[in-house]
Amino acid sequence: MTNIAILGFGVVGGGVADLITNNSYQVARLGGDDIRIKYILDLRDFPDSPFADRVVHDFDIILSDNEVDCVIEAMGGSHPAYEYTVAALKAGKSVITSNKEVVARFGDEFLALARENGVCYRFEAAVGGGIPVISPMISCVGQNKIREVRGILNGTTNYILTKMFSFGASFEESLKDAQDKGYAERNPDADVLGIDACRKIAILTALVSGELLPTDRIHTEGITSIRKEDVLNAAKVGLSIKLLGRCVIGDKGMQVMVAPFMLGSDSPLSSVSGVYNAVEIIGEPIGNVMFYGQGAGAGATASAVVGDLMQIMRSGRSYAEPVWTRGTDGICNFADFEARQYIAICGADRGAVEKVFGSAQVISEGEETAFITGIISEKTAQEGIKSLERLGATVKSRIRLI
Ligand code: HSE
Repeated sequence: MTNIAILGFGVVGGGVADLITNNSYQVARLGGDDIRIKYILDLRDFPDSPFADRVVHDFDIILSDNEVDCVIEAMGGSHPAYEYTVAALKAGKSVITSNKEVVARFGDEFLALARENGVCYRFEAAVGGGIPVISPMISCVGQNKIREVRGILNGTTNYILTKMFSFGASFEESLKDAQDKGYAERNPDADVLGIDACRKIAILTALVSGELLPTDRIHTEGITSIRKEDVLNAAKVGLSIKLLGRCVIGDKGMQVMVAPFMLGSDSPLSSVSGVYNAVEIIGEPIGNVMFYGQGAGAGATASAVVGDLMQIMRSGRSYAEPVWTRGTDGICNFADFEARQYIAICGADRGAVEKVFGSAQVISEGEETAFITGIISEKTAQEGIKSLERLGATVKSRIRLI
């Protein structure tokens, strides 16, 4: 019998309890043992729940119970998730989490503690919800020279952008629809400002490089400044707009970012719609590999959490455990990042654009001039924008292409 405790009985914690209960045959077959949910930690009581008798309010009950083999942290946020994780690992209990915030901030420390204490720390659900991506990245692709990991890592923003493209709706209208449908929080900042995707690309970057970057060193833009006009201009030339997390590995180091990108229909990420997530890995000799599925929700996230539990029950630490160090050694200057750029301006025309950027693909003229440059660096783009402003232009939008 494997005894577990679930910290947090919200969407994810509840989904984990349901999956273990409803799929007990599959879980026991795969894990090689029965699982008992011995405790559920929450501030609240759940008198009508079938798990009401497992609910406790004091983490020390779980910590001091030597029968508890594994703690599932489904609380979210940094604290007290950090303190509970440290205590559980030091007490010789494996920890599984769906909490990307705590992994992105402290994952290196947790992995080291797990190593020192001979237990496991797993976080498959922290990126891409139900999509198995962390585990394949650890055990199936590391032998390649990875050139890039990129993905649609946030379902809420992908839903909003899909809505803007399908209905020509504004960002505000699409956000409201996402909130009404329960996809976006009432305070949507973590999603729409790119903070959630930033945590996830930090985790994916650590998996390919071994270096856990502080999230404030990752260039992060959200989708709040994308306008209906940009969507129409993109559609006119067969492009879509997606919020991507990207870790691009070149000869000089890594460029890691979260930003909206315009993509052509030849990119497999362009067809990922609605709340779905996808992660694309490009390496040699493997080529392009894409993982696709539901990035959030009780069932999908619980599937990833319980998958981690199955691996721990079957293999324990014999599974390849990542080793991360915290730092910034591997990143290079974002000012050198090169891409084609979509820029929309008003107050200046094609002549001004050509004067500053040379030949550019002009895609709309009139009240606004929208154009796409050749491949230029961030530094050149910013200098060009300043020159356009000196010529009387006001920049309305800038979006990179991939
Ligand atoms: N807010 C996240 C999203 C939830 O929209 O993708 C899953 O991490």
